[in-house]
Amino acid sequence: MSVIELNNINKYFGSGVSKVHVLHDINFSADRGELILVVGPSGSGKSTFLTIAGGLQTPTSGEVSVEGKSMAKLSTAQRDKLRLNQIGFVLQSYSLVPYLKVKEQFDFVNKVKRQGNLNQAELKELLVQLGIENLTNKFPGELSGGQTQRVAIARALFANPDIVLADEPTAALDSARVAEVGKLFKELAKTRDKAVVVVTHDVRLMEFADKTYQIMDGKMTQATNKQPAK
Ligand SMILES: Nc1ncnc2c1ncn2[C@@H]1O[C@H](COP(=O)(O)OP(=O)(O)O)[C@@H](O)[C@H]1O
Ligand SMILES: [Mg+2]
Repeated sequence: MSVIELNNINKYFGSGVSKVHVLHDINFSADRGELILVVGPSGSGKSTFLTIAGGLQTPTSGEVSVEGKSMAKLSTAQRDKLRLNQIGFVLQSYSLVPYLKVKEQFDFVNKVKRQGNLNQAELKELLVQLGIENLTNKFPGELSGGQTQRVAIARALFANPDIVLADEPTAALDSARVAEVGKLFKELAKTRDKAVVVVTHDVRLMEFADKTYQIMDGKMTQATNKQPAK
């Protein structure tokens, strides 16, 4: 069973003459152990897709299921619980708490979600893996764009979710760091048995993906995974 599945998702914004059809009959699924990429240009509907997949907004029609449970059939409290326990977001706005040091961002997660998070040794290992173990006493305002992104990735993974949803996680990174993030996401998917879904316009990530979807004007197609041999 796919850990997350979207069936015939449509999303409209606005109404009347200003009504726009942003997602068209999207079908998508992700399994544990997979890094899935959704690649498309700016404005193609990537962030809308990701926030609907994570239950942060609702589709106009169609169904999102997590572990076989339809999100629309859950109560608000059940949906919040599912999101908290099973889904990790790395959003474009990062949403680090500005007045907390890096190490305190994780304490904050422990306060909001009391169980199932990584322990201190596992956290240390993750920070080393991301190359940010020396930044724990810094405030978000003291970090570069790339460092901020890596802290946001660490914070999402700290809660040990089944599904990681990342929106343009490599936007501010140079090619070497892009490769590291690609490898890291792939490794996390494999070793920690997670479904990692990355939406991006960054084609440099494609070589790390197990499965790639393309999105264009709100229409999604599954792309062939690897570049054809020359
Ligand atoms: N809340 C909203 N209200 C109206 N239009 C929106 C809203 N959110 C996104 N859109 C529109 O939907 C389209 C897709 O946006 P988005 O999902 O952010 O694309 P991407 O992440 O690929 O850049 C864009 O044309 C955008 O202007
Ligand atoms: Mg976007």
